[in-house]
Amino acid sequence: MSRCPQAVFHAKNLLKQKENIIAKRYGSWFSAVQMGPPDAILGVTEAFKRDTNPKKINLGVGAYRDDNGKPYVLPTVLQAEQNILNAKLDKEYSAIGGNADFCKLSAGLALNADANAAVTPNVATVQSISGTGALRIGGAFLNSFAQGKDIYLPTPSWGNHTPIFKHSGLNVKSYRYYEPKTCGFDFQGALEDISKIPEKSIILLHACAHNPTGVDPKPEQWEELSQLIKKRNLYPFFDMAYQGFASGSVDKDAFAVRLFAKEGHQFCLAQSYAKNMGLYGERVGAFSLVCADKDEADRCMSQIKILIRPMYSNPPIHGAHIVREILGKADLRAQWLQEVKGMADRIISVRTALKSNLEKEGSSKPWNHIVDQIGMFCFTGLKPQECERITKDFSVYLTKDGRISMAGVTSKNVEYLAHAIHAVTK
Ligand code: LMR
Repeated sequence: MSRCPQAVFHAKNLLKQKENIIAKRYGSWFSAVQMGPPDAILGVTEAFKRDTNPKKINLGVGAYRDDNGKPYVLPTVLQAEQNILNAKLDKEYSAIGGNADFCKLSAGLALNADANAAVTPNVATVQSISGTGALRIGGAFLNSFAQGKDIYLPTPSWGNHTPIFKHSGLNVKSYRYYEPKTCGFDFQGALEDISKIPEKSIILLHACAHNPTGVDPKPEQWEELSQLIKKRNLYPFFDMAYQGFASGSVDKDAFAVRLFAKEGHQFCLAQSYAKNMGLYGERVGAFSLVCADKDEADRCMSQIKILIRPMYSNPPIHGAHIVREILGKADLRAQWLQEVKGMADRIISVRTALKSNLEKEGSSKPWNHIVDQIGMFCFTGLKPQECERITKDFSVYLTKDGRISMAGVTSKNVEYLAHAIHAVTK
């Protein structure tokens, strides 16, 4: 049905008038938009890049560096890419849930001690846009289907956890985790708080290498946490971004996840290959739901796909091919396990070096936590004004909470770093 020309003219006029009112009031469509703050973690890299001091050190973002401070592409990743090139794979769309072999291998890496064992059919896994994307899929799924919509995060937690779960529509709450006095785990505080969390809530757990504190529960503490979480009828959400990075062993670092599986918890799991394969920019990870049985897993999988499709349709293929090559070929997998251990060992060695250089500087402060904490980060205990001073006076870049990425420390800059830390803390 065509509209009369007068009505069309009238409607166009009205629209124009509306646009004029908006333009008059705001100047343009977005003139009312306020400048937002830089990202608490990625913003540190931006500031670092602007600094011209040749001695500058970036300890902000958690990205592995070799002993020359350079990004490290794992030899197994280069080999996998060569294999992919030789195989002349096509560039077709992936399935909504990603590469099926990749998904099985990822779930197996997390859940199975035996690399050749099949993943049990009660597990639903999809490929995700790294760990962040896995958390976001999990948040969306839980917002649609969980019985409770409150998620409890440890205090502190990775800075992106709160916005991810808020954007997913969940209510973000907290439980005690870190004890600043000891720079260690506040086990009693955690138990007390968890025992008061209302039933059916979700609890976020860092599977290993807690970010930002580097403080992990001991195996026997995990056992107690598992019992309590079961007793309180809470739903665990594991974030495992650092499998292999904490101890150097992917099996040791999967202790908590495998314990919860063995003890019959249903839970979900976010995995990332950013750190343990150095695939930061490839954005490759996995999201898994450990369900009651296969039928439940199939139904949940169908709903996860319905959530993914309008978000990003289907995931990118290259990173998943790399992971599939490495985990699926026995020789490459064995070599990769050595490379992960090599990265973890270098981090452990610079922890020791930093502590002994601080002692050499004459610092009388207790620095045991530098070697007691584990994984990529050290929660130094530096106060906000000390963080500000170390950046301003020494061009040492770190997040405002005093977290340093140990991966940015090398045998060449550790002395300078110890000198700077001592200078701002004495
Ligand atoms: C970090 O905590 O530094 C990393 O997980 C990188 C990021 O995206 O924040």
